Amino acid sequence: MKLPSCVLAAAAVPLASAQLDFWAKKAGLEFFGAATDTPGFREREPYAASYPKYDAIFADPKEFGQTTPTNGQKWMFVEPQPGVFNFTEGEFVSKLAKKTGKILRCHALVWHSQLAPWVEETTWTPEELKAVIKRHIFGVAGHWKGQCAHWDVVNEALDEDGTYRKSVFYNVLGEEYIKLAFQWAAEADPTAKLYYNDYGIERPASVKTAGALRIVKLLKDAGIRIDGVGMQAHLHADNHPTMEDHVKTMTAYAEHVEEVAFTELDVRIKTGTPLNDTKLAWQKESYQFVSEACIRVPQCVGITIWDFYDPFSWIPHVFPDNGLALPWSEDFSKKPAYDGMIDIFKKYADKPRPKPGKPTKPTKPEKPGKPRVKRFSA
Ligand code: XIL
Repeated sequence: MKLPSCVLAAAAVPLASAQLDFWAKKAGLEFFGAATDTPGFREREPYAASYPKYDAIFADPKEFGQTTPTNGQKWMFVEPQPGVFNFTEGEFVSKLAKKTGKILRCHALVWHSQLAPWVEETTWTPEELKAVIKRHIFGVAGHWKGQCAHWDVVNEALDEDGTYRKSVFYNVLGEEYIKLAFQWAAEADPTAKLYYNDYGIERPASVKTAGALRIVKLLKDAGIRIDGVGMQAHLHADNHPTMEDHVKTMTAYAEHVEEVAFTELDVRIKTGTPLNDTKLAWQKESYQFVSEACIRVPQCVGITIWDFYDPFSWIPHVFPDNGLALPWSEDFSKKPAYDGMIDIFKKYADKPRPKPGKPTKPTKPEKPGKPRVKRFSA
């Protein structure tokens, strides 16, 4: 696909000010980051011409203070054959993080998706599969030892109904695999903060939120270290959690873990009907709720968006008629969500963060149950 000329023209425009990480830090967060991937692969394959501009925005230390590889550390890339490791893709992002001075969040050690096919194609005894998981965790977390500020140790272990997902790991080992994964990750990379990470765990009443709390307690009761819960936050502009939802949910996790984070934030817009200001306003509100809630909950360390540039987003590839989920549009202009987040960070700039156990009051009181903007009906 050829890029429109406006994208190419934008490549010559110097970087604008008001950067996200700079203002997020002023508001007391540890970081505002963007995930990224290997150039030329997957979603970004047809967009080579956009790289100079993309790379300059990504590298700006005031824009993004943290990054996560969207793909390169996943099982299918790092251990494509049993015991045969390949760190090339993952290292692209870990080296870039080092070069651009960003915190590295690592993703993901044990996950049912993007697994190497051999893991699912083999019939394992429990002892065999334990050995496979152990080798994988020591191989991968061991390789990046000392470089990862956080590791998503177990990703998406919950099904939509809040019960355990029937993955190969669960089917062979039951919930034991979660305990073993955290134990081995702690041994393999003692300084990384160890996270349980999932989607749909951002609302207090969600069955998956209850499931995530169960997993946290399972580990805590067994005396196994878990440091954080990562809310992926793949949100919908037309039906997003309120700030109070976010605060309540994070506060519940924070009773048991040291930290929480928004780890894969994007806010998709329905693209089957034309884009309009209302859709953009809903999206902005959702990004703002996440930002303000993170500031208000003392254990919330930061926010990572799942890439920052629409053409590189995974959303339209997986959810037809959805997209435009990221703060930067295809022509590199910023959506209202960008300034919306900056406004929130500025509002809290240079004010002390709340102490654990005491989320701060919102600066503008919210009317419970009354969204500030109207939502789509369906
Ligand atoms: C996505 C990547 O962004 C895509 O490039 C890939 O094709 C599929 O996976 N939850 C996760 C992420 O934990 O790893 C997923 O990333 C998005 C959903």
